[in-house]
Amino acid sequence: MKKVLKVLAYLIGLVLLLLASTAAFIHFRGIPKYEVAMTEEIRRLKVPQDTLLVAEGKRLSTMLCQQCHFSNETKKLTGSQMKDVPKAFGIIYSRNITQHPSKGIGEWTDGELYYFLRTGIHPKNGGNYIPPYMPKFPRMADEQMHAIIAWLRSDDPILAADPTELPEIKPTFLVKFLSTVAFKPMPLPTKTLLRPDTAQKVALGEYVANSMVSCYPCHSADLKTVNDLEPTKSVGFYGGGNPMMDINGEQIVRTANITMDPETGIGKWTETDFVNAVKYGQKPGGGSLAYPMMPHTALSDTEVKAIWAYLQTVPKIKNKVERAK
Ligand code: HEC
Ligand code: HEC
Repeated sequence: MKKVLKVLAYLIGLVLLLLASTAAFIHFRGIPKYEVAMTEEIRRLKVPQDTLLVAEGKRLSTMLCQQCHFSNETKKLTGSQMKDVPKAFGIIYSRNITQHPSKGIGEWTDGELYYFLRTGIHPKNGGNYIPPYMPKFPRMADEQMHAIIAWLRSDDPILAADPTELPEIKPTFLVKFLSTVAFKPMPLPTKTLLRPDTAQKVALGEYVANSMVSCYPCHSADLKTVNDLEPTKSVGFYGGGNPMMDINGEQIVRTANITMDPETGIGKWTETDFVNAVKYGQKPGGGSLAYPMMPHTALSDTEVKAIWAYLQTVPKIKNKVERAK
């Protein structure tokens, strides 16, 4: 009997040693790096400075980039601390994405920007992978991807070269660990991605909600169980309840159930209620929706109504969310 216990003790000791050395490895290696595998086509990408393209890029950036990269001090996109990133993820700053050659992204090529925004693999930092505190855009239509790049190159004053530099980010062990076992870069698209036209209402709504603006990561059950490759496989897809932080990172605000369940979702809403909530952050009974639900004034009525049409096709989930006061 004693011998068995001894062997068991050795085994447990061995397992603990292995765990400790794996943990030490993850801690010191940090967030994993990946091979920067840009195709020839991406390497050669040169987006034209077309006025319409720049305007579309600016419109998209107000929903997709500026909230994280805008600095209240410089009034430009020189980056700021992400106060609403959960403490368990560490101290995270967004970066300077003005046109400054060394402190900003002035020296990135169009291809490098495209590759980074699609995959989340940093082409300048030896292939550093960027965890989910910066979104990736693997399914956005090529035209809109190009629009964002055209805008980043434009003479928009908030992008004018600025040398402001922020401290290094300090991700916790949890981020390093999850980036090793769960979070992965997104694959490059294998074909040209098109935006559905306005005649295909449900398809357009699905595109806007799942590929362009990404409503689903917030409106699923938890950020840790979101499936960015196949959004519909995210746990609690559009059923809400995801615990998010308020703007100061102090209080939890749970996302709403926006499936058509009449009791716990928005099944009793009208299309107008929905447009007012999504575009202007207005609650049907009066009052405003809480951060991080932002007004999406840059979406057209057609796009918001298309999302409404698409949500009618999403499976209802019964999930009563304890809402913020
Ligand atoms: C939710 C917040 C968030 C949003 C939205 C966001 N970013 Fe970021 N971005 C970050 C953070 C945080 C980093 C730094 C990550 C790191 O260093 O690990 C970053 C890094 C970057 C970098 C790398 C810069 C460098 O020099 O290393 C670029 C380029 C960039 N973002 C562009 C964009 C663009 C363009 C958009 C919109 C299409 C966007 N970001 C949207 C948070 C965000
Ligand atoms: C950054 C996370 C985030 C994103 C992105 C987001 N939402 Fe929300 N949304 C929330 C939160 C949090 C609430 C709850 C706010 C509250 O309780 O006041 C909410 C509330 C709502 C509501 C109100 C529902 C109700 O019962 O009151 C609707 C409708 C809605 N969101 C639709 C959308 C749509 C459509 C999109 C994409 C265009 C979207 N949201 C993107 C976080 C988000």
